[in-house]
Amino acid sequence: MVAVHVLNGPNLNLLGTREPATYGAVTLAGVEARLKAKAEAAGVELTFRQTNYEGELVTFIQQAGLAGAGVIINAGAYTHTSVALRDAIKGADAMTIEVHISNVHAREEFRHHSYMAPVCVGVICGFGVASYDLAFDAIVPLLEKRAAKPAA
Ligand code: DQA
Repeated sequence: MVAVHVLNGPNLNLLGTREPATYGAVTLAGVEARLKAKAEAAGVELTFRQTNYEGELVTFIQQAGLAGAGVIINAGAYTHTSVALRDAIKGADAMTIEVHISNVHAREEFRHHSYMAPVCVGVICGFGVASYDLAFDAIVPLLEKRAAKPAA
């Protein structure tokens, strides 16, 4: 069974009340419920996690990658600062899609750069919480394709 870990970084626990003009009114529990329903329909095993700590995100990425699960990550502000998250993705060979609720490229310049993007399959941003749904729809066929390949 294909497995996907959805990892959320700092301040995303405040989703729904945090800067609603930028991030909308859906809570993180709401995002989790939507994805759980999608995963159930697709026959995908879903793990959904949030932490405000950078090192914990590193551990979560390692656990997913080493278990062969795909990763959908909204690393929040750590996207723009963390070499450690990039190294975790690369080091654990985690097939990863970076997501953002807001269009980071339409915001402050410091949000335009991502340390993780070069080691991700792709980046989805600007579609509100639907960015997570789009990432799920994108990563599942890639994981299925990888699982179908005979080991080298
Ligand atoms: C965010 C964008 C980041 O720049 C910001 O620090 C966040 C949320 C987003 O989902 O739009 O915390 O990742």
